[in-house]
Amino acid sequence: MLKGRHLIDPMDFSTEEINEILDLAGEIIANPKFYADVCKGYVLATLFFEPSTRTRLSFEAAMLRLGGSVMGFSSAESSSAAKGESVADTIRTIACYADICAMRHPKEGAPKVAEMYSDIPIINGGDGGHQHPTQTLTDLLTIRSIRGRISDYTVGFCGDLKFGRTVHSLIKALSRYENIKFMLVSPEELRVPDYIREEVLIKNNINFVEVDKLEEIMPSLDVLYMTRVQRERFFNEEDYIRLKDSYILDLKKLENAKDDLIIMHPLPRVNEIAVEVDKDHRAAYFKQAKYGMYVRMSLIMKLLGVSVNA
Ligand code: CP
Repeated sequence: MLKGRHLIDPMDFSTEEINEILDLAGEIIANPKFYADVCKGYVLATLFFEPSTRTRLSFEAAMLRLGGSVMGFSSAESSSAAKGESVADTIRTIACYADICAMRHPKEGAPKVAEMYSDIPIINGGDGGHQHPTQTLTDLLTIRSIRGRISDYTVGFCGDLKFGRTVHSLIKALSRYENIKFMLVSPEELRVPDYIREEVLIKNNINFVEVDKLEEIMPSLDVLYMTRVQRERFFNEEDYIRLKDSYILDLKKLENAKDDLIIMHPLPRVNEIAVEVDKDHRAAYFKQAKYGMYVRMSLIMKLLGVSVNA
């Protein structure tokens, strides 16, 4: 039962519950008109203390397409956080006005704090360099919609695996599916954090390698998940400039890739995928952004406990 639950970490839901959300998203994609009014009378709050295009607006589009209403803020500066209000007091207040809340915060763990003080469902829309569970739902729906299953893949993650919260969440989630192998491509300084390597990969006997050249592993990949080097998480600009163009995916690098490779990216991209790749039939990142709206429609319905027959 997902009604009334929070989503802070991808492991908060079982694989069965995640599959339930993906199944409903598939039904919404097939028949969006059936769902046009299911959330009439409900209000979603979007509290974004950090910039966003896809996550905030796809949540808002999702609620509007379900017939509900939306309110919120898109920066800390336009809320009373700028006057020093705590996350705890903010969420206690928002829970007086809204039925469900999606939030993004630069501090790791802030949505967890919000959950402790909230009697409405809290959805983590990204907390610092930690987790981004609704991007994971988006990614799982993308893979399942394109290939019909989430199992038996070699998945490459490339770029900033240290600060990339989408990477951390997707590794956690995919580790629970059958026969998934990971190839982690990054400069030494941007390797996955120890808690992902030790607590997720090693502890669960997941097959993984860490390499620094993308070309070498390209022929074995079924999914390639590119990521942006996260400028906003670096402590100094020099390191960012040195590492930012470590990997740029272009058509030449794809020459040895499988014909049914799925090229993904949570977006925004900066330089890490050349624009020429956009027209390649394997590029899935803009489809991925669209799946993000449908999976958030499904998630909102599940957490509010509404259904098409209600
Ligand atoms: N994928 C993602 O989180 O994008 P935004 O930062 O634009 O929300």
